[in-house]
Amino acid sequence: MDLLVQHAQIADEVTSGFEQVISKSAFVNGEDVASFEDEFAAFSGVDHCVGVANGTDAMELALRAAGIGRGDEVIVPANTFVATAEAAVRAGATVRFVDCDERCQLIDVHQVAAAISPRTRAVVGVDLFGQIPLMDELASVTDAAGVLLLEDAAQAHGASRHGRSAGSFGVAAATSFYPGKNLGSYGDAGAVLTGSPAIARAVRALRNHGGSGSYQHATLGFNSRLDSLQAVVLRAKLRRLRSWNDERARAADRYENLLGDLAGVTPPKTLAGNVHVWHLYVVRVANRDVVLKRLRAAGIGAGVHYPVPVHLQPAFLASGPGPGGLPVAERAAVEILSLPMFPGITTSQQERVVEALAKALV
Ligand SMILES: Cc1ncc(COP(=O)(O)O)c(C=O)c1O
Repeated sequence: MDLLVQHAQIADEVTSGFEQVISKSAFVNGEDVASFEDEFAAFSGVDHCVGVANGTDAMELALRAAGIGRGDEVIVPANTFVATAEAAVRAGATVRFVDCDERCQLIDVHQVAAAISPRTRAVVGVDLFGQIPLMDELASVTDAAGVLLLEDAAQAHGASRHGRSAGSFGVAAATSFYPGKNLGSYGDAGAVLTGSPAIARAVRALRNHGGSGSYQHATLGFNSRLDSLQAVVLRAKLRRLRSWNDERARAADRYENLLGDLAGVTPPKTLAGNVHVWHLYVVRVANRDVVLKRLRAAGIGAGVHYPVPVHLQPAFLASGPGPGGLPVAERAAVEILSLPMFPGITTSQQERVVEALAKALV
C-alpha cells in the first residue's frame, strides 16, 4: 500500500491545518474534531459522530454506551480483526463466535439466528474488506429476538447497502481510522456513529473520564479522545474519499479483467445491493502460504487478512468452539490472499501483480 500517493494530494491542506491547531494550542477535542464529527456524521447518514482514540475503543465504548456489560453475550463473526471480539470482552461481555458465508466471507445470518440464546444481548455485524453484510436481514433477526445490533464499520468508509451508508446500521457503529483504512489518519483514531442521542452522550462522557469536561465525574470512563491533528488529516481526506473509493473500484475492475480465467484463483464477489469500497482485494488460492512467499520474493506486497480466525486465536481458544467449529471461516483463513490495493495503484503495477501471481500459483 502506498500512502504517499494520498499524502501528496493533501500535503498543503494538512500543513496549514496543523499550523492553525498549533497556533491555537487546541490539541485535543478541538474545533477540527467537532467539525470532523459533523462532516463524518453527514457523510455516513447518521445524526451523531463521536471521535475517539482508535477503532477498538470505539467498539468498546459503543457497547458500553448501549448498556452491554458483565454477564452479557455478544455474537461476533469469527473472521474479523481480533479487535471486534476484544472490545466486547473489554466491555465485560463474553463472545460467541459464528461462521461466515462461503461466497463473500461475511457474517452468516442463519448462524446468528441459531446462536441467539437467552444470554445474548447484542450482535455485531462486521463490514469486511469494504462491503456491508446482510445487515437488513440481521436486523430482522435481532429485532425478532429483542437483542441489539451494532456494526463494525472499520473497513467500509463510503460503502453502502441498498443506498444506506456504512456506519448507519444498528443502534451504533464503531469505526477505525487506522492509517491504512480507506479513511486513514496519521496515527490512531476512531469514531462511534449513532442515531441515538443517549448513546452519543454516553460515549462523549466515556471518552473523557466519564465526565462532562468540567471536572465533574458522576461515572468513570477512559481517556479516549481524538487529537485535533488527526482531525485535520481526516477532514482533508474525507473531502477526497469518494473519488479515492472510485479509484479503488476501477482498480478492482482492472484486477477482475487481468485475472480473467486464471485457473486456481477465485476473485472476490460483491453482494447484490452493495456498493463495495475495496478496502482490500481478497482472492482465494490453494497453497496460499507458498503463493504468498513467492509473491513476496517477487517484490509484491501481498498480505493475509486474517491468517487465523479469531476463535482459534490463543486468547479465545478456551472460550470458543475450537478447531473445526467454524469450518467456512477456517477454510477461508488458509486460502485468502490480499493483493495490493490503494487509490493511485497503476495499471502496470496491477499487471505486475497478476503476472507474479500467475507464476507463483502451484
Ligand atoms: C474490522 C476491524 N475492527 C476493528 C478494528 C480496530 O481498529 P483500531 O486498530 O483503530 O483499534 C480494525 C482495524 O484495525 C478492523 O479492521
